Amino acid sequence: MKHRGVTIWLTGLSGAGKTTITQALEKELRSRGCEKLEVLDGDIVRQNLTKGLGFSKEDRDTNIRRIGFVAHLLTRNGVIVLVSAISPYREVREEVGQKIGDFVEVFVNAPLSICEERDVKGLYKKARAGEIQKFTGIDDPYEPPNNPTVECRTDLESLDESVGKIVTKLESLGYIS
Ligand code: PPS
Ligand code: MG
Repeated sequence: MKHRGVTIWLTGLSGAGKTTITQALEKELRSRGCEKLEVLDGDIVRQNLTKGLGFSKEDRDTNIRRIGFVAHLLTRNGVIVLVSAISPYREVREEVGQKIGDFVEVFVNAPLSICEERDVKGLYKKARAGEIQKFTGIDDPYEPPNNPTVECRTDLESLDESVGKIVTKLESLGYIS
């Protein structure tokens, strides 16, 4: 498969399905022969590159800028970069997107009530109980993209549909062929 460098940036609430879509998309792109691919998942990145950062606005913005910096380096070297991070603030997402240039914003969207119902990691329960502060969607903001390149409604569409939408968009934008 021929491809150009691009960052595919998945933003959305905890439990919306960012990691799930990222993993399925990685599998799909690799099965199509894409070898130069890297995943930067907020949960993992926070154990190394951005270790020590918390969840204040300042720390989240630093987290996103650092991820964006690495994504930019990789993208300009022809890598397909899959970023999966809540990235709740519109302004810094847009800043990073402009720097990278080859940037596809994917809004992984499910209503808060559904994410909370899923509560995959039990974090919403803890946030409601006041055991975790500044939890996105509960007592911390999430600013949805105004004009995402792709929107995946994970409560309404299947995982295959979501992945298919992204792949189709990458094709129509000329990033993969
Ligand atoms: S951010 O906002 O983009 O800097 O966050 P990110 O790097 O994606 O990290 C989010 C994951 O951290 C866990 N977690 C929290 N999320 C949101 N708010 C608070 N307060 C919080 N505390 C811990 C949570 O597991 C997130 O992972 P995902 O995969 O999104 O569920
Ligand atoms: Mg995740």
